[in-house]
Parts: sequence; structure tokens; C-alpha cells
Amino acid sequence: MGKKKHINLSTLLTAYHHYQKIFRKEREIKIIIMDNLIEAIKQLKKEKNAVILGHYYQKGEIQDIADYVGDSLALAQWAAKTEADIIVMCGVHFMGETAKVLCPGKKVLVPDMAAGCSLADSCPADKFARFVEEHPGYTVISYVNTTAAVKAVTDVVVTSTNARQIVESFPEDEKIIFGPDRNLGNYINSVTGRNMLLWDGACHVHEQFSVEKIVELKRQYPGAIVLAHPECKNTVLKLADVVGSTAALLKYAVGHPEKEYIVATESGILHEMRRKCPQTKFIPAPPNDSTCACNECNFMRLNTLEKLYDCLKNESPEIRVEAEIAEKAVKPIKKMLEISAKLGL
Ligand code: 13P
Ligand code: SF4
Repeated sequence: MGKKKHINLSTLLTAYHHYQKIFRKEREIKIIIMDNLIEAIKQLKKEKNAVILGHYYQKGEIQDIADYVGDSLALAQWAAKTEADIIVMCGVHFMGETAKVLCPGKKVLVPDMAAGCSLADSCPADKFARFVEEHPGYTVISYVNTTAAVKAVTDVVVTSTNARQIVESFPEDEKIIFGPDRNLGNYINSVTGRNMLLWDGACHVHEQFSVEKIVELKRQYPGAIVLAHPECKNTVLKLADVVGSTAALLKYAVGHPEKEYIVATESGILHEMRRKCPQTKFIPAPPNDSTCACNECNFMRLNTLEKLYDCLKNESPEIRVEAEIAEKAVKPIKKMLEISAKLGL
């Protein structure tokens, strides 16, 4: 055993106070930089007549600066009706594509072009088109989490907010292909009694939630309501009290702020939940692997205030969609918006 080295306590305390001062200064500088960045973004936005749309899974500071924060459906609806010249889509690539297809004359920017989606990636357009071809006579319903090329071979697009109602708007014996999320597809099949043919895709974030850890949390918080997104596995959905899109889960929590919640969806939604219900306890459902922050979507979190500033300043990176694909993809997206409007969604 080595001998313990004696360190003078007052030397230690002096060093501690010294580092505290440096850290405080660093924090102050960071706040000043952030405040300036926020002001600069607001200024650029005004000068360029731009609108910032943000998904609930974005970092808190992006949600705070966005003109509108919402789920995938709301983002598409806002994009469709904005009068801005530039749309900055703080979300992932397919959300930018959807906005571009709806507004071909506008510039659609995304802060980080690498912000993709594992669910969209699980459905390559050529393979999906072949699958559709192999099943003539089927109506094709695609989740919005797809590329524009997949939407181009789709009859109607859905989001998690309207998927159930849109499926139910078809006759009971309609033969339907549903892609790409197998969990959402299975969930809709189970609640509607349909037997849709499912594409075998999934989101890496929603597939990660741990059943065992949610059960343990329920034991710890026996009164807590479990909120789950339908992209979660069936075993997680079985534990849920409320299954719904991010907007639906938020709405439920806002309607019952006296409860406690275990939230099984990307943890970015907790920012808006806590903002709207500051007194309520929200516990993010943990992923299987406790060493990673897997309940955060690494794609969504690529966007930062710095990148948002740069993209507004440089008007880049810009989303572009091939005209031929855009022409086909816009139809099922517009169809979704029309049905949603009729349903009051
Ligand atoms: P919603 O925005 O429809 O809730 O979907 C969640 C999601 O995974 C977005 O990528
Ligand atoms: Fe795609 Fe999942 Fe990230 Fe949503 S949370 S963008 S579905 S990878």
C-alpha cells in the first residue's frame, strides 16, 4: 500500500476557488455568446422573411427559438400555409423534403444535412417500389418518415397523429400496404382489426425502450401514467396507459397535470411537457443500454443554434427534390392534409 500524500487544505481550497472562478467566467461567456446568437438568428430571420419550424425532438434551445414547435403533422401543415420566403426546418431530412414538396417555390433549409432518420433509411425507395409492384390492387399508405421517393409510390401519407383515422377512412375490406414502421403498423392493425401488409422497418430510438426498466419505474411510481409513442415495440405499448403521437401525449399530460408520467418516446418532448406543466413530474423511459442516451434521436440532436445561424446566414444547406419525384410525392401528402383538415386534426 502506497503512503497517502499529504496536501495542504488551504492550498486545495485556494485551487478550488480559483477553478470555480474560471468555470463561472466560462459559463458567463457562454451565456453572452448564446444571447448574441439568439439575437442574430432573430435578426436574420426578419431580414430574410424566414420562418423556423421545430420538431418536439429538437434540443430545448432550438424549440425555444422556433416560430412553431410541433409534431410531424403540424410541421407539414405549417409549411403548407406559411407566407415566409424561407422555411428553416429544424427536424430531420424527410421533414425538410415534405416542406419542399409542398412549397416548391420556397427555399427550404435544414441546419444539418446529415440529420437523417433510421426509420426512413429502413425503407429504400427501390425495394419499396418493388414490394408495391408485387402487390397489385393494394392501396399504399406510408408514414411521413419516408423519403420523397417512397412517397412518390404512395397513395396517402400518414403521421402518428392521423394514421388510425386515415386507415379507418378506407373500407374494411380494402387491401392495404403500410410502411415503413412495423410497430405503428401492428398497433393500427390491433386497434382497427385490419390486416394491413406491413413493411419491416423501425426507428432505432423507439425500439430501444426497456420493458424491465419501465416495469421497475412503475413499481417506484405506482401512480404514474405511462405515455408511449406507437413507434415503440408491442411489449412497451402493452405497458402504456396512453398511446399516441408526440402531440397527443403532450395534450394528455397538459389535460392532467396533477399526475406523474413515464414517457416512452424521444426525450426531447419533455422540454415542452415541462414548459407547459412546470409542476408535473415527467420521467423519461430508459433505453435497454444504460450507457447510451439512446432515448435521444442522434439525428434530431445534430441541429444546434450555431448551425441554425449558419444556415440562415448562408441560406444553405438547402433541400432539393427532383421535380419528377416531387410531382408524384406531393399528391399523397396533400391527400393527408385534406383528410386531416376534414377530420379536424
Ligand atoms: P410524430 O412527430 O408524428 O409524433 O412522430 C415522431 C417521430 O418519430 C418523428 O420523427
Ligand atoms: Fe427517425 Fe426515430 Fe429519429 Fe424520429 S426519432 S427522426 S423516427 S430515427
